Amino acid sequence: MTVTESPAPPTAPAIMSAQDVFKVFGGLTAVGGVSLDIPERSIVSVIGPNGAGKTTLFNMLTGLYKPTSGRIVLADRDVTRSRPDKITKFGVARTFQNIRLFGAMSAVENVMIGRHSRMDTGLLGTIVRPPRVRREERATEARARELLDYVGLSKAVADRYAVELSYGDQRRVEIARALASDPKLLLLDEPTAGMNPQESEALKGFMQQLRNDLGLTILLIEHDMRVVMGVSERITVMDHGLKIAEGEPAEVRANPLVIEAYLGKQG
Ligand SMILES: Nc1ncnc2c1ncn2[C@@H]1O[C@H](COP(=O)(O)OP(=O)(O)OP(=O)(O)O)[C@@H](O)[C@H]1O
Ligand SMILES: [Mg+2]
Repeated sequence: MTVTESPAPPTAPAIMSAQDVFKVFGGLTAVGGVSLDIPERSIVSVIGPNGAGKTTLFNMLTGLYKPTSGRIVLADRDVTRSRPDKITKFGVARTFQNIRLFGAMSAVENVMIGRHSRMDTGLLGTIVRPPRVRREERATEARARELLDYVGLSKAVADRYAVELSYGDQRRVEIARALASDPKLLLLDEPTAGMNPQESEALKGFMQQLRNDLGLTILLIEHDMRVVMGVSERITVMDHGLKIAEGEPAEVRANPLVIEAYLGKQG
């Protein structure tokens, strides 16, 4: 085995865990009893065919959906019923499979929104704008520009409307916005969708940099197997709402259940 990065030791405590979580929509069991531990400072991926329940699992981890049953624990705190803004404050940030930027706002304004969970200013402050608020706003804008630079976007991009940017650049703005809330755990839902191979490769390196430089933990949903196999320490495979396999990339790739889920039954 060659170790070039600094993967989490196998004994690292879980920063977040899902414990036997279910999500039922009417008669459809989207997630049917999945457990998952995300060790601190690890890069863990969730893969599986379309409709497997990956995004639904993310939505439960981030408080958008309440599990039908099961528990979600964030660093020893039960967050099963916590609201999304609370979970953000506790240090979990995400990007969305379908990009959710405000198209009529600039890239830098979109990133500033991500900082909101950490700002002192309430609604009244943003209307009256006393000097303290203006100072805080200036600092937030400076930080947002730094983050855009950090995710590899040029200065020229920062002031353009989000809607004018390429897909790949919009994905980076979303990551910068997620980073603006100072997360410990970052959940990325298909971040390379719509990216060209060079952009996907760069994103792979960037995820490793986030973990190695900032000590972030990353949970990734991703269809591009080169990215998944290259970046993950552990992979969880879902199919029809169930976890069908889990392990290191090489184990998962060789697992007949996984091959079958992806290729369908032969004959
Ligand atoms: N809000 C909802 N209401 C009803 N059904 C839903 C809802 N969200 C998801 N589902 C259903 O739950 C199942 C799992 O969907 P989910 O989006 O979690 O899959 P996924 O693994 O993320 O798929 P993909 O790779 O296509 O993004 C699907 O059958 C989907 O139609
Ligand atoms: Mg999805």
